[in-house]
Amino acid sequence: MPVTIVMGAQWGDEGKGKIVDELASKAHIIVRFNGGDNAGHTTINEFGESKLHLIPCGIFNPQSICIIERGVLINIINLEKEMKDLLDKGVSLRNLRISPFCHLIMPWHIAADKGAEKKFKIGTTLKGIGPCVEAKANRRFAFRICDLLDLKVFGEKFREIFLLNEKELRLLYEPGLMKSFEEELENFILAAIYLREGGWITNTQDIIHKAVKKEKPILLEGAQGTLLDWNWGTFPYNTSSDVMSIAACMFTGIPMNAVKHNIGIAKAYLTRVGEGPFPTEIFGPEGDTLRKLGKEFGATTGRPRRCGWLDLMLLRYAARINNFTSIALTKVDILGKFPVIKLGIGYKGLKRDINELDFMKLEKMEPVYRIMEGDWGNLSRFRWREEFPKTLRDYLNVIEDFIEIPVTLISTGESRGNIVPPPNFLA
Ligand code: IMP
Repeated sequence: MPVTIVMGAQWGDEGKGKIVDELASKAHIIVRFNGGDNAGHTTINEFGESKLHLIPCGIFNPQSICIIERGVLINIINLEKEMKDLLDKGVSLRNLRISPFCHLIMPWHIAADKGAEKKFKIGTTLKGIGPCVEAKANRRFAFRICDLLDLKVFGEKFREIFLLNEKELRLLYEPGLMKSFEEELENFILAAIYLREGGWITNTQDIIHKAVKKEKPILLEGAQGTLLDWNWGTFPYNTSSDVMSIAACMFTGIPMNAVKHNIGIAKAYLTRVGEGPFPTEIFGPEGDTLRKLGKEFGATTGRPRRCGWLDLMLLRYAARINNFTSIALTKVDILGKFPVIKLGIGYKGLKRDINELDFMKLEKMEPVYRIMEGDWGNLSRFRWREEFPKTLRDYLNVIEDFIEIPVTLISTGESRGNIVPPPNFLA
């Protein structure tokens, strides 16, 4: 380290949970800094399979302090549930810390997301992300974790804004999108009491600042992927938050020059959920096979993910705008089950790099493919890249030549330890 950023390089679901779980043992502090419970990070380790939505995937390492920092939008009811699920598995939450400045996802945000999706479909996770960010930008109607510290004042503001939103939701969409005021408030208060009493809400900045000063190893765990960024992604089919490496510094207050590794996580193929352009999408039985082999169903919503070939034009775009120092490539073992593999290396008629202007016509763009050999066999016994079959080494070389940064970590299976090389380069 000392500071390593792990950021999705595609449309989310790149396998960031697995990579963070692998790297966590080296980190003194792990910070989740963006997104909300629209994210779903899957890890498989000694606690079995876990799907985390808000808590950093480093929580399984009892030595690390895990922080939820201010860029994360929190649904406290779902956070309480996630915490209790971990406790039931025997995972300690002693080292969890939550920033008082995280914004809260309120019941009317979820209701508005649901109402809006029926009229204007983006394919959101229906977790209330967009409406929560609207409230944050508006300021007047926003709630933060620190508002839970005085529950009397919180209850009064909750009532006022609940009633306003109830009217607005009925006008804009339909009645019945929220439960009764009493029920919604009670759920909130119970979760608030749970969070407050556990002592998890604290001055996280102080912890981060001291760790940076002492040059302790810090891992910054991003959610979603760059192509879902609201400024740089495939607008409007994106999420409502900053999904760029630079956001890791912005939301943690860590100086940019403290960052040593800025790792983009990419799947060896490509998936997306929700609406939006996807030039290398595979339709029909081949796509179904990839979905089944890769278990490509949303960790948050259970929706089947759209599956396709790796698109190097989009990966190079993500690498460039994030200034990634390297790529961690996941699910290589899954792709290797196909005897013939396609790799998107361009678009018909486009003789330069892709940019955001092209995103407006991305659904009409036709990919150019390079055909490569698959059938890589079982990779879990390999520790070093040189041991891989030549066909896989060729695949990796083509990627590196194209995106002009190295692939430094290769995930060869879903369990902890299935990674090449062992991730001690971060020491
Ligand atoms: P929202 O973030 O729920 O508003 O959804 C906006 C878009 O981002 C939709 O296409 C979602 O499917 C997508 N999205 C949000 N979070 C994730 C994620 O963690 N993985 C993959 N797609 C996501």
